[in-house]
Amino acid sequence: MLEQPYHVKRNFMRIRNTINNYGSVAKWLHWLTAALFLGSYVSVYYRHWFTQDNTSENWTALQLHLSIGISIAVVVALRIIWRVMNRTPDLEPGTKMEHWAAHAGHYALYAIMIVMPITGYLGTGVDTEFFFIADIPKFESTKLFNTLVIEGLGITPDQFENPIDYIHKQILGAWLAWILILGHAGAALYHHFVKKDKTLYKMTVGK
Ligand code: HEM
Ligand code: HEM
Repeated sequence: MLEQPYHVKRNFMRIRNTINNYGSVAKWLHWLTAALFLGSYVSVYYRHWFTQDNTSENWTALQLHLSIGISIAVVVALRIIWRVMNRTPDLEPGTKMEHWAAHAGHYALYAIMIVMPITGYLGTGVDTEFFFIADIPKFESTKLFNTLVIEGLGITPDQFENPIDYIHKQILGAWLAWILILGHAGAALYHHFVKKDKTLYKMTVGK
């Protein structure tokens, strides 16, 4: 059998994670998610703080929030598939407690990435004009909503949407997601500047 040239093998290895580093796909997916999270927050806070109700700016900001949020659902699905197909790089040396906290933090971030788009979609009373190129009907106008919520649970759309909205906007959106993301970014900076280990390097320029 023909052997692949050495450089082809090395490049291929870098696409996937290794014991020491995240590969390029995991890195791109990670930083894309971070950028999309930033976009979803900027769009929704811009809408609240800088636009008047019933203006086209207000509507555009909302639609950007919905479109970016739905994109996160797609990216996180790809990310999870890629993660189960790959090994995860070993954590840098630390105490058992630190390693436990790192794993717990990463799983909690995955949970946020899944639950935020779902609660957003389920609780939203408007259709999504996905980046103004395609319409995605709101959950309330789907057959599934009728079967599950109206006939199945026997409650009104408001009774279904209000608690989900509260979880999306308040419990997770305004608090838990921020705590997790800031704690996570803070931990990465702590590793880089205080412990001076390779944690941040692994998710950025590390090869
Ligand atoms: C990871 C993705 C998402 C994040 C981080 C996120 C975050 C937030 C936050 C923080 C708020 C509350 C703003 C406030 O009231 O102070 C909010 C509101 C909202 N979100 Fe999301 N969201 C995401 C995805 C989605 C999705 C996929 C949809 C629907 C398709 C959606 C629909 C909404 C709606 C309708 C509001 C209310 C808008 C407003 O009050 O201006 N979100 N979101
Ligand atoms: C400025 C912001 C951010 C920085 C500096 C950062 C940095 C890092 C670093 C250095 C790692 C590797 C950790 C290790 O191997 O020990 C990592 C992993 C991870 N990050 Fe971030 N991150 C940021 C934003 C985010 C955001 C917004 C999310 C999701 C909402 C996120 C989710 C994750 C997850 C789930 C992992 C674990 C990946 C895995 O093993 O599958 N990060 N991040």
